Amino acid sequence: MNYKSFIRPDIIDMKPYKPIVPFEVLSRQLGRPPEEIVKLDANENPYGPAPKAIEAMQNGQYFHIYPDPAATELREALGRYTQTDPDLLLVGMGADELIDLVLRVVLSPEDRVIDSPPSFGMYPFSTAVNAGQYLTIPRTADFQMDIPAVEEAIRTTPNVKVVFACAPNNPDGSMISTADLERLLALPALIILDEAYIEFAAIDGWESRIDWVAQHDNLCVLRTFSKLAGLAGLRVGYGAFPQWLREQMMKIKQPYNVNVAANLAALGALQDKAWLNEKVNALVTERKKMAQILTEEIDYLTPHPSYSNFVLCEVTGRDAGELKLKLQNEYGVLVRHYNKPGLSNYIRISAGRPEQTEKLMAALKAV
Ligand SMILES: Cc1ncc(COP(=O)(O)O)c(C=O)c1O
Repeated sequence: MNYKSFIRPDIIDMKPYKPIVPFEVLSRQLGRPPEEIVKLDANENPYGPAPKAIEAMQNGQYFHIYPDPAATELREALGRYTQTDPDLLLVGMGADELIDLVLRVVLSPEDRVIDSPPSFGMYPFSTAVNAGQYLTIPRTADFQMDIPAVEEAIRTTPNVKVVFACAPNNPDGSMISTADLERLLALPALIILDEAYIEFAAIDGWESRIDWVAQHDNLCVLRTFSKLAGLAGLRVGYGAFPQWLREQMMKIKQPYNVNVAANLAALGALQDKAWLNEKVNALVTERKKMAQILTEEIDYLTPHPSYSNFVLCEVTGRDAGELKLKLQNEYGVLVRHYNKPGLSNYIRISAGRPEQTEKLMAALKAV
């Protein structure tokens, strides 16, 4: 019996998601201790968790008890933090889990999902896992969504159920205008607005649209503790969803998806708002400084404007992949590189601590 024939053919055909090399593995490979590595490749928060988040975990007493499936206390705290009705909120094992959950609820095989690449890699991944058809409407040269093309695709293509919008968009950091978001919301599709990095954009006056979910039956807004609160390793994200969708998501999610430590850390972080704000400010200051130095002093990199905690740079006159490897192997500086349609020969650099920016710039000048 060839049991491989049991496997869904679309899963066999699916390309695996290529995560970055794990930190510990890379540290061993490079022969450098983790604290010497300048890790600017995954938009993590280099300041780590807020002191109150760590304290909350240290004081945790119920690690032997399963967590609350509804994350009631955390949703109430998030309701206050986001000014949103906690009944619209759902907490997940990172925003990643929520992307998957929404698609699991709404997609039947062959239903279509519109994405505007370049954007976050989990949108095509979760679409494929959920047997959806992935339809791409490429972004314009300045990384804006091509709204007329999205409208046209929905008018002319059957079974489009979901449109992804990401603001700030990963990997370039651009935002979506209010007018464009309103045009998307007028379409007969579910709009998933991914605001994983919104706190960084807020420094420049952009506002979260999480409060729009109460007025729009076709809007979901995703947020996370990974970037703002330095909890990427604990996996905790959340979102606001219209009631018709949220109740089905609650029905099919793993009951204990958010573990006790992650719950405690997230609650602790929300009690440390001054600390979080200070670090967001520091990272945005660093991003601005980094963009300025790159523009003025590194002639082979052209940074794109960003409202997030990273900067996308076009690489000219040299190969982005080779540059990434050189920075990594010779200087212990990690950046993300891209070489694909719409993003050929680019690197993305996350904002770090001031001393990390110094090491980055020294390496970029030396390579
Ligand atoms: C746009 C975007 N959305 C969601 C995520 C994932 O967030 P989480 O760590 O909460 O799963 C990321 C992480 O890189 C991201 O860039």
